[in-house]
Amino acid sequence: MTNPIKFGVCGLGRIGVKHCQFFSKDRDQYQPVAFCDIDSPRAHSAASEFGGTPYTSFTTFLEDPEIELAIIATPSLDHARNAEEALAAGMTVLLEKPIGVTAEDFKILQSLDQIYPGKLYFGHNHRFEPAFQNTLAIIEEGLLGNIQVVKLRKHHMFARRNDWQMRLDCGGGQLSVWAPHLLDQSLQLIGAPVSKVESYLRSILTPGDADDHVRIILTGENDVVAELEISNSVAIPGPHCTIYGDRGTLIYGQEQSEIQLKYLAPQFHWPEATASNTGSPVPGENWAADQELPWVEEIRKVEPDTNMWTHVEVELARHLHAAIREGVPFPVKNEDALEVFRITETVKKQNSQFNSIG
Ligand SMILES: NC(=O)c1ccc[n+]([C@@H]2O[C@H](COP(=O)([O-])OP(=O)(O)OC[C@H]3O[C@@H](n4cnc5c(N)ncnc54)[C@H](O)[C@@H]3O)[C@@H](O)[C@H]2O)c1
Repeated sequence: MTNPIKFGVCGLGRIGVKHCQFFSKDRDQYQPVAFCDIDSPRAHSAASEFGGTPYTSFTTFLEDPEIELAIIATPSLDHARNAEEALAAGMTVLLEKPIGVTAEDFKILQSLDQIYPGKLYFGHNHRFEPAFQNTLAIIEEGLLGNIQVVKLRKHHMFARRNDWQMRLDCGGGQLSVWAPHLLDQSLQLIGAPVSKVESYLRSILTPGDADDHVRIILTGENDVVAELEISNSVAIPGPHCTIYGDRGTLIYGQEQSEIQLKYLAPQFHWPEATASNTGSPVPGENWAADQELPWVEEIRKVEPDTNMWTHVEVELARHLHAAIREGVPFPVKNEDALEVFRITETVKKQNSQFNSIG
């Protein structure tokens, strides 16, 4: 006999509807029961498409005894309080990113994490990008040696984004839109606590007042540096991910379909060498200690060969089910997500002109 997780979704916009679709695919795992949006046609349309009760008020949604899991996909400023109310109503919660926007939200979420162990999950779904997961496996293989520098870039279209996500009074800005995803990945790649955060935010093309260009540099206690850039104003996109190790380099593009690798043959060991205090012995001679290096060059197809946007949703649902029903640790630990939030709060303090709501 199956025991599907009965779920409700609150906030039926771009991502909320996707959650409805992907969490409804396997009814042995999840069963949709409730759909909430202040926009009544959206609530009714989801209820009739997926099956369940429509709600136009979050308060009445919370009174539905059937809901075991509440998926919160409302606008960002409501996230922390929506999570608090759903947990108080006895539900398990999957909370969209940014998990919160204000310093007050941060305090609320820290305390909810303590009060409701095992009931609050943070939806950093881009942890499950295939190219990123393949990269973690390549690092684990040791081909790149010790990681020194990580560069992650999300270069959106050269576009004047003009929705609520570009208004500070709505909790918008790329620091809330994409930075949580890249920060989550960066923390995994650094693999040590972050000791330093440097940043600048800019509003370049958007007709709103929020940041559409974000640059963050993190330094780990292990001295690994991660440089992140999210921008709506790059006409020639750079690679999505570049990693420098002390034995090689990895790169993949914004399309995330293949990974380019160049690394020293695994059996190669550096011969002894010292740096002298003079120039080259012969004028014009190379200054490198080693002339010929045994490079291996590879292009690896990203596996699985699937649509990244679909994959992150499928994996989110799969891991969440395993966590709720079998107690398997959810890959995105709450401490990871709270650390992402701590960093975005630090960036806001460093760029106070983009911090109009506290
Ligand atoms: N993880 C991801 O990949 C991902 C992708 C997109 C958006 N998001 C996040 O999800 C959130 C929603 O983004 P979106 O793009 O879907 O926004 P959206 O504007 O398309 O949708 C938000 C929906 O919430 C509804 N709503 C507003 N207030 C409500 C309330 N009090 N009760 C119930 N419904 C309410 C709106 O009517 C709308 O339908 C944002 O925080 C965003 O950052 C995450």
